[in-house]
Amino acid sequence: MKIVIKDNYQELSEKAALLIKEAILNNPKLVLGLATGSTPLGTYKRLIEMYQEGEISFAEVTIFNLDEYFGLAPDHPQSYNYFMKHNLLSKIDINYDNFYIPDGLTDDPDKSSLEYEEKIKKFNGIDLQILGIGSDGHIGFNEPGTSFSSRTHLANLASSTIKDNSRFFENEREVPSQAMTMGIATILEAKEILLLASGINKSEICAKLIDASKDIMLPASALKEHDNVTILLDKEAASQIKT
Ligand code: PGA
Repeated sequence: MKIVIKDNYQELSEKAALLIKEAILNNPKLVLGLATGSTPLGTYKRLIEMYQEGEISFAEVTIFNLDEYFGLAPDHPQSYNYFMKHNLLSKIDINYDNFYIPDGLTDDPDKSSLEYEEKIKKFNGIDLQILGIGSDGHIGFNEPGTSFSSRTHLANLASSTIKDNSRFFENEREVPSQAMTMGIATILEAKEILLLASGINKSEICAKLIDASKDIMLPASALKEHDNVTILLDKEAASQIKT
């Protein structure tokens, strides 16, 4: 795992956006795996600016999102579909037919999960996957204890995740308790992975991740199996890493 530490959130976002820009310039038909949450917002803001400045185009890019709350319609303001449209897709030249996200309203999660895996395969896999990390070490909604061989599936959210994510809802009871998520094996098949972590509340889990050997109680430690992973942190998130 390559570790890159930036002074602050703005610089982290700049670096992440630059890495994505380079990947698109190298391959305009890039298959990009994206994440939701607070962490990538600055990156998306910079990508929008780069698009507006004419530096990049998403016209031929395909996007696969990591996960979606189970039970939320795509137009629900807290759905990840809505998040992506509002914070990135409506402001760039992506073709909406090239945007994929797990179906939070499916009545057959197993079938829908298989279909999502098949779609990713049809595009020969994800070239570059962006990840955040939960304070409990989750990637996507793969919570501690999830098998490293898991594929896209319906997952139960850990109570700490429900608590963390309640900041976006009226109260904790409004947070869905399940989500459709790419599995850990799905994520590990991406050719390149960029994990972003920002802020003091990620410092403990980031220090653990860097020290840990593979441990299913720390889902992000699965990334140690992969040979092209960059962990991009700001100083606060890196503050407990032992040098
Ligand atoms: P955050 O979420 O970016 O909002 O901290 C990260 C995650 O839960 O994966």
